[in-house]
Amino acid sequence: MASPLDIIILAAGKGTRMHSDLPKVLHPIGGRPLLQHVIDSARELGAEQLLTVVGHGADQVKERITGDDITFVEQTEQLGTGHAVQQALPHLRDQAKVLVLYGDVPLIRASTLEKLIAAVNSQQMALLTMTMEDPTGYGRIVRGPEGEVQAIVEQKDATEEQRKITETNTGILAATAEHLRAWLPQLSNNNAQGEYYLTDLIALAHQSGVHIHVEQPEAIQEVEGINNRQQQAALERYYQQQQAERLMAQGVTLMDPARIDCRGTLRTGRDVVIDINCVFEGEVALADGVHIGPNCILKNCTIGAGTRIEANSVIDQAQVAAACTIGPFARLRPGTQLAEGAKIGNFVETKNAHIGAGSKVNHLSYIGDTQMGSGVNIGAGTITCNYDGVNKHQTEIADDVFVGSNTALVAPVTLGKASTIGAGSIVTRDVAEGELAIARAKQRNIQGWERPQKT
Ligand code: UD1
Ligand code: CA
Repeated sequence: MASPLDIIILAAGKGTRMHSDLPKVLHPIGGRPLLQHVIDSARELGAEQLLTVVGHGADQVKERITGDDITFVEQTEQLGTGHAVQQALPHLRDQAKVLVLYGDVPLIRASTLEKLIAAVNSQQMALLTMTMEDPTGYGRIVRGPEGEVQAIVEQKDATEEQRKITETNTGILAATAEHLRAWLPQLSNNNAQGEYYLTDLIALAHQSGVHIHVEQPEAIQEVEGINNRQQQAALERYYQQQQAERLMAQGVTLMDPARIDCRGTLRTGRDVVIDINCVFEGEVALADGVHIGPNCILKNCTIGAGTRIEANSVIDQAQVAAACTIGPFARLRPGTQLAEGAKIGNFVETKNAHIGAGSKVNHLSYIGDTQMGSGVNIGAGTITCNYDGVNKHQTEIADDVFVGSNTALVAPVTLGKASTIGAGSIVTRDVAEGELAIARAKQRNIQGWERPQKT
């Protein structure tokens, strides 16, 4: 039987340089907290236990990050990375392989971690290193005459000679639970920072005759940690670039891959075109041939095949069928459903509204809490008055209704099939099938009217 996998995620640090009330590991990349990225990668590895070491802002972290596989371990005082891992020791399973990750290193790939885990056995532990032009600040990897890793020295403890080493410690390592249990209690804080360094494990391993297997990440960004807003912004751009690459590889046309932001999961069909400056949040699905104009925001929505969304439209929790046209400057709010071929034009807002097949709401309207049939034409400036100040009420509009411009539909109200509403009406009573309703003051023309004169 393969040994079980336990993962320890260090997330107790303060993140002073973020200058924020939010714990560092809850700051987002691609709309997802840093720690959530790490947890999602850990889950890809099939770990049964995610031991998350929390300290600063622990309550906020626990509230935000959830799952049956997560066990929070409190580190009340941050006495160093070795001390942090020690807090998780009692939870480790005897036969487990253990992987140590960092809550503020979000883009580590599961494929890189798999190599580390695969290398762990009773005679070997695994360490992820990187080689850098400027290694200042990082722990240095000290190798012996045969190239074998012997120790890690921290920047502050390193000699002049050791500081020239360009191979650095990423912090990520893997070992058996048995080895960690043997070595961690031997750590001391007798060093330049007065901390219990996890990195001292390497020398202990070497001294016990355990070999240290080394892997390097495919991309440097995998092991980059976030300590300030600049690093967060840089990693955000990298992440977005990765998203854009993935979309293009799937056949999506991006008018400019540098000007798209995916803050969630974007699924796309064939021949989708996305113009510049669009933001996608949550779960968004675009079917074949969808065209999205510039400056659109789509959040938790599905868009049917061949639908066009024109510039500057905002769509939130809506379901849009095939062959619809939306915008420019449309706002579809939660609970909007458009049936096939529906049209929502400029300066139109919808909310909790079902718009039937081929129906048109082309200009300057608010349609809320409405059930609309097919083939309906809603004139410019039509407002459903759905709110009486206390309760919301429904408007029912049957098939083939024609509503003239500048109409107020005071809900609850029903417009029967193929009924017609004269422009400028304030409709407060139901209209039956085929009827014409006109509810406006009669026009009076006054002959010989003289305009007032200036006195
Ligand atoms: C650590 C490594 C260094 C490596 C670098 C890579 C040690 C001693 N040094 O240094 O070799 O090159 O990472 O970025 O391990 N944390 C806790 N509790 C603590 C201390 C830290 O949870 O008591 C967490 C922090 O929140 C952070 C991570 O551990 O996410 C790393 O701690 P940090 O103090 O930033 O380590 P470095 O000094 O960067
Ligand atoms: Ca530090």
